[in-house]
Amino acid sequence: MTARPRVVVVGAMPAVGIELLRRRADVDAGGIRPEPGWLQAHVPGAAAIVADPGVPVDAALLDAAGPSLKVVANFAVGHDNIDLDAVRARGIRATNTPDVLTNATAELAITLMLSAARRVAEADALTRRGEWHEEEALLGRELAGATVGLVGFGRIARRVAELLSGFEVRLLFTARSHASAPPGAEQRELGDLLASSDFVSLHVPLTSETRHLIDASRLAQMKRGAVLVNTSRGGVIDTKALVHALRGGPLGAAGLDVYEDEPHVPRELRELPNTVLLPHIGSATGRTREAMARLCVENVFAVIEGREPPTPLV
Ligand code: GLV
Repeated sequence: MTARPRVVVVGAMPAVGIELLRRRADVDAGGIRPEPGWLQAHVPGAAAIVADPGVPVDAALLDAAGPSLKVVANFAVGHDNIDLDAVRARGIRATNTPDVLTNATAELAITLMLSAARRVAEADALTRRGEWHEEEALLGRELAGATVGLVGFGRIARRVAELLSGFEVRLLFTARSHASAPPGAEQRELGDLLASSDFVSLHVPLTSETRHLIDASRLAQMKRGAVLVNTSRGGVIDTKALVHALRGGPLGAAGLDVYEDEPHVPRELRELPNTVLLPHIGSATGRTREAMARLCVENVFAVIEGREPPTPLV
């Protein structure tokens, strides 16, 4: 009888995924945020590491795992937490969970657009304090008639565009090359898009080119009162510049699901009334998290058993 492989799991992988892994592997599960050093201590001899965007997987961790390691399976579509060059150099595989989370994340981006524009967090806080709104008219703005700019035009941005088709918006987008677009959507340069949009939603991966893509000079190009939404990665925005633009303009509001140094959410952002702040829950619906778990587990066992994984990165 061959020995069961060992899989080390850290991050948001739900119980259903752990159960599926346990059917064919020995599993060490550290939970969402284990003690510092837990992963390094448990990884030696593992055949697979299951991680999520909050778990850095670098060359030192891969080396600590040793020659048994076959695959790093991310429980996420984004993979900026994994050093893919180091993975490649060691002849192992890395996988992610695209597609299954596209709709949930796109819906959350639209939730943030509407919540920031209609001041939902502020109004909710006021209502909970029993204050009603005689003093504060809580006037917001509508999506109908607005120009929405999507920065990046991958799967999630395209789904946002589809979902917005009922909202009577004008749609602009940026893409690295000429991209086919839904009828009426116009491809623009970033500066032009920022200067023309009432709502801007970010949908680019975090890379060395997109780190601080939205910095002070880009924020200064935005329309007065514009709403900025980020469901991609916190590092795409320069947080200090964002706080400045939310305090003194031109930004009217921001809806954020991601931050530069998660799980730390800067006090300045928390204290501003014109922010809606979520704890990185873009893909967090029961249906989507289960689909992600199943795909992640398929990736793990495909590599361990010598088959091509369904959604490889490397
Ligand atoms: C979440 O952040 C993801 O990349 O799936």
